[in-house]
Amino acid sequence: MCPKVLTFLLVASFQIYTETYGDDFTVMSILKDAWVNTPRNWVGADPCEGKWEGISCKKSRVTSITLAAVGLMGELSGDISSLSELEVLDLSYNTRLNGTLPPSIVNLKKLKRLKLAGCSFSGPIPELIGSLQLLEILELNSNRFTGSIPHSIGNLSKLVVLDLFNNLLDGSIPVSSGNTSGLDMLVNALHFHLGRNRFSGAIPNELFRSDMTLIHVLLHDNNLTGSIPSTLGLVHTLQAVRFEGNSLTGPVPSNLNNLINVTTLILSNNKFTGPVPNLTGMAYLSYLDLSNNSFDASDFPLSFSNLRALTTLMLENTGLEGRIPPTLFDLPSLQTLILRNNQLNGTLDVATSSSSQLKVIDMRNNLISFYPESPERRNNLDVILVGNPVCAHPEATENYCAVPQANSSYTRLPEKCVPLHCISDQISSPNCKCSYPYRGVLVFKPPFLESRNSAYYVHLEEESLMRSFKFHQLPVDSVEVNFPAKDSFGYLESNLSMFPSGQDHFNTATISDIGFVLTLQTYENSDIFGPTYFKGSPYPYFDGKPTVSKELSSTVRIIGAAAGGASFLLLLLLAGVCAYRQKKRRESASEQKNHFAYLDLKNSDSVPQLKGARCFSFDEITKCTNNFSEVNHIGSGGYGMVYRGMLPTGQLIAIKRRRQGSVQGGLEFNSEIEVLSRVHHKNVVNLVGFCFERGEQMLIYEFVRNGSLMDSLSGLSGIWLDWRRRLKVALGAARGLAYLHELVNPRIIHRDVKSANILLDESLNAKVADFGLSKPMDNSELILATTQVKGTMGYIDPEYQKTLLLTEKSDVYGFGVVLLELVSGRKPLERGKYLVAEVSSLLDRKKDLYSLHELLDPSIGLDTKPKGLDRIVDLAMKCVQEKGSDRPTMGEVVKEIENILHLAGLNPSAESESTSASFEEASQDEFPPSLKEEEFSLS
Ligand SMILES: *[C@@H]1O[C@H](CO)[C@@H](O)[C@H](O)[C@H]1NC(C)=O
Ligand SMILES: *[C@@H]1O[C@H](CO)[C@@H](O)[C@H](O)[C@H]1NC(C)=O
Ligand SMILES: *[C@@H]1O[C@H](CO)[C@@H](O)[C@H](O)[C@H]1NC(C)=O
Ligand SMILES: *[C@@H]1O[C@H](CO)[C@@H](O)[C@H](O)[C@H]1NC(C)=O
Ligand SMILES: *[C@@H]1O[C@H](CO)[C@@H](O)[C@H](O)[C@H]1NC(C)=O
Ligand SMILES: *[C@@H]1O[C@H](CO)[C@@H](O)[C@H](O)[C@H]1NC(C)=O
Repeated sequence: MCPKVLTFLLVASFQIYTETYGDDFTVMSILKDAWVNTPRNWVGADPCEGKWEGISCKKSRVTSITLAAVGLMGELSGDISSLSELEVLDLSYNTRLNGTLPPSIVNLKKLKRLKLAGCSFSGPIPELIGSLQLLEILELNSNRFTGSIPHSIGNLSKLVVLDLFNNLLDGSIPVSSGNTSGLDMLVNALHFHLGRNRFSGAIPNELFRSDMTLIHVLLHDNNLTGSIPSTLGLVHTLQAVRFEGNSLTGPVPSNLNNLINVTTLILSNNKFTGPVPNLTGMAYLSYLDLSNNSFDASDFPLSFSNLRALTTLMLENTGLEGRIPPTLFDLPSLQTLILRNNQLNGTLDVATSSSSQLKVIDMRNNLISFYPESPERRNNLDVILVGNPVCAHPEATENYCAVPQANSSYTRLPEKCVPLHCISDQISSPNCKCSYPYRGVLVFKPPFLESRNSAYYVHLEEESLMRSFKFHQLPVDSVEVNFPAKDSFGYLESNLSMFPSGQDHFNTATISDIGFVLTLQTYENSDIFGPTYFKGSPYPYFDGKPTVSKELSSTVRIIGAAAGGASFLLLLLLAGVCAYRQKKRRESASEQKNHFAYLDLKNSDSVPQLKGARCFSFDEITKCTNNFSEVNHIGSGGYGMVYRGMLPTGQLIAIKRRRQGSVQGGLEFNSEIEVLSRVHHKNVVNLVGFCFERGEQMLIYEFVRNGSLMDSLSGLSGIWLDWRRRLKVALGAARGLAYLHELVNPRIIHRDVKSANILLDESLNAKVADFGLSKPMDNSELILATTQVKGTMGYIDPEYQKTLLLTEKSDVYGFGVVLLELVSGRKPLERGKYLVAEVSSLLDRKKDLYSLHELLDPSIGLDTKPKGLDRIVDLAMKCVQEKGSDRPTMGEVVKEIENILHLAGLNPSAESESTSASFEEASQDEFPPSLKEEEFSLS
């Protein structure tokens, strides 16, 4: 006590100006006294007037302490309970903050957020924590808390996030009974993160109720026994369910199939029995792991072929026998397929899968006897058949009979700028700006490790993190993920550096927000990286210069304070000015952002301003889609669903409705809004309006009657496209793209040019659609997409795929492929063969019809040679040149098509074709095939 009093007196003795200071100052002085490495500007009489870093006040009372990852050491003093107006306490990622959580903390009756993730607290969670009646967020993950979960947590009726992940908690999971409360009462909670503890006993039946709104239930890596309660199937809102690494038994309850919104389901490493569950009701299921259980031996369930959104399927050691159904390889988004240690036999036939995104098939230790290797896929698909009879054949190759080596010589992408030499501890960011990065360790368990493409996954990780930060409007300039190393649990650890934008350092509020985003939003990416968590490192730069980290020793501090006394006044003045500026900056930031609030995300009232687009009320949309009825549901994707509707004026509309909580959906929406709010052209699909009410986000487009070009070419839409019409469609689409590339400012790269994204109206005007992947180009020519190669197989520019450099020429490539489709009526990738390669190999300009007879689409009408066919083929081949610089611009493409139309005796500027003369319009009840599932890649 003595040193505390002494410091207090020392500080107090300098209070020349302010005689009056509230109790909060006293309390803050005590807290400060117990800690090392408090912010440098924690000087002066009043934390509120003095604008102490990380402290917010209302009416001279401290309402928020936000000091995540600042390197605090010491213990949390029980005196904090006197800060009776405190609403936010975030001390996360101060790894050397230890001791117990003082029981008196339960007196902070106004506390809404208690965030102590990644510290070193030990001892029990206070028994009466349930008296924090206003608590919304309780994040205690990655500490060393012991004991059991207090029953009183059930009294926290406002709790949204309960995160106790990675502690030493034991006992059973408390549910209410009689007078005692339990977790089942938390009907407003979205997150139960209870993984990596020592919980035991059965998961109580009473834990789940139909009136709950949980989206994450994570109970993995505990010591739980018994079976999964069937009540889990009542929680329809669930999106991520993880029970892996327990000792759960019995069959998986069949009603889990009701959980339609689940995207991540991990039940591996338990003792489940009975049949492999039927999960066809989980229409969005993207990551499924049932490995290492004791399911009944059975044929490979056909039902998995209906899970259209699957990206990762892991069924290692699950008693599967017989053949793999070939339909499995038709899943449009499947990337990773792990089927090790089963009894699967017959032929592994991947060659016929045309639309697949497959990167890895690991089937080691099965009974596969034949694998017809497809040369086209060898470079982008790892197949592992080690331990199968096929590898005993003399002609078997290393390509699939050896385990590929992870690409350990990890090379970064080519620099897109010249790295700077920076002073002090600053680092040159990937965008070549000197700043103080916030670092931490990202821990993840990817579905597959041994891929030759593993370096590429690191780039994907960087991009998806950036997307999360952008989505949450955090001032992050760039992100760098180092090549990971394996930890003892088989998890990978990557060092993660996040660089600030706008200034050379992050402030404490942003550090706090980053931790929160990394803790809660990781499930959006689980299909690629597997389950993830984050450990922040100390960030001693929050005031723009390195703070020399001090060790705990009160004598040193007191001497320091005394010696510093002479310059104290000056310091006080400087600190005041600096803090004032920071406050101003913070205030103006918070006007836009209103201090990051998880809850705000759900009820975002930020309505984008769109020219010419109308704002619809939720009721209007409900009415015109007949309450989103099944018959009006015409498509779906990762972001949500598409509905058809009719406005009272009779105008038909298509409505894209964002699925709540989908970050990917949010990004795609932002991208579409960004693009569509700036463009207006008759060859670009028109935005009619939007609806941002009641937490919904919907975009409303004109309904384009005749579906997509792809549907017409494949005969789905029943529209016959003769040669003339094809030329017109080509011209329209080219004009739309040329407009995006050349007339919009900043210019826009569509990134997913394909026949499915070119819609045809009733006059066969082409309209470019689906801007979910689009990128506005700033001033530079090139965009380095630090990134996932995005797009659709068969249309992806090979140069972009190699270099990750995105230019308009990638769209030109896609357009060239569309021209070849127009000529041939074929898909860009059919039976493992690329259309571009087929045409190149047949093409002989000296021969009649360029020797392409067998490829040309007979429905063009080949009796008389279609006028300009050769020139369209020439143009297409120029567009698909290997090197972007050899391809024409879209403007040049438009000119050439206009010339070809002249040559064919058509007037390119004439008004468009009427379709009704030669065939019937699609009836109103028949929705356009363009909006069916295929168009919206479920990536
Ligand atoms: C807290 O950490 C300090 C030094 O880091 C150590 O001396 C002290 O024993 C720790 N206290 C507890 C309760 O672990
Ligand atoms: C929790 O609620 C129960 C009954 O509703 C009550 O008896 C108990 O005192 C409450 N506990 C706390 C810590 O508020
Ligand atoms: C898990 O529970 C079993 C049986 O209840 C017990 O024998 C075992 O020691 C527990 N394991 C751990 C790590 O607590
Ligand atoms: C799986 O469940 C769906 C209903 O969700 C049902 O239609 C289908 O027949 C089931 N499949 C099998 C193989 O049991
Ligand atoms: C594959 O396995 C199934 C079931 O174990 C068996 O009935 C079938 O004969 C096997 N087929 C081949 C080609 O070995
Ligand atoms: C599934 O998600 C959608 C979109 O967020 C939501 O409207 C729907 O209510 C959810 N379904 C359930 C059963 O919660």
